[in-house]
Amino acid sequence: MTRFAVLASGAGTNLQAILDAVASGQIAAEPSLVLTDRPNAKALDRAQAAGIPRAVLPFKDFESRETFTDAVVAEVKSSGADFVVLAGFMRILAPAACEAYPNAIINTHPSLLPAFQGASAVAEAIAYGVTVTGCTVHLIDEELDHGPIIVQEAVPVLPGDDEESLHERIKVVEHRLLPEVVANFAQGRYRVDGRHVALT
Ligand code: GAR
Repeated sequence: MTRFAVLASGAGTNLQAILDAVASGQIAAEPSLVLTDRPNAKALDRAQAAGIPRAVLPFKDFESRETFTDAVVAEVKSSGADFVVLAGFMRILAPAACEAYPNAIINTHPSLLPAFQGASAVAEAIAYGVTVTGCTVHLIDEELDHGPIIVQEAVPVLPGDDEESLHERIKVVEHRLLPEVVANFAQGRYRVDGRHVALT
């Protein structure tokens, strides 16, 4: 069966949506590893509850982004993963990750890319005053939050929204889109042509 690794840094609600979709049969693939850069990430508890192997690689234990990335890739490869999902992974991987898994690393991002790239996308959307933001599920390339887009969905910014309330509504959409993308990817249904991704 196809295997995949999930990388997460925080609460792991997107990881949970993926694990639930595996349990229900929506995703016909097996999680081989949950890897985090943060020893206290709630994602680790979710992985343990689901019986998925876990790995913790604190960024500060490495000399550089490159050595960190090499260690991440080694863990992911040794788990037997065919592809990788970044589900709230807040570290930028060096180009070696894309070389090891070309067009096979999926990321979810809480904005309509290319707007609000980076780690503070929801706060920046509020500060800018946009009335519509959303989420983007895409393949990563060597540039931050830049690779080919698989799917996007808009989420309105409501009067009185703060970062937390808006992010919660964005996550509701992510929890639906990301498992769908993982399910399709596991079945080899995406064809990538430059920046364009077609569902076949
Ligand atoms: C998600 O909203 C994801 O899009 C975002 O972190 C959140 C993780 O939530 N990722 C980024 O901002 C990446 N730049 P979770 O830990 O509850 O799944």
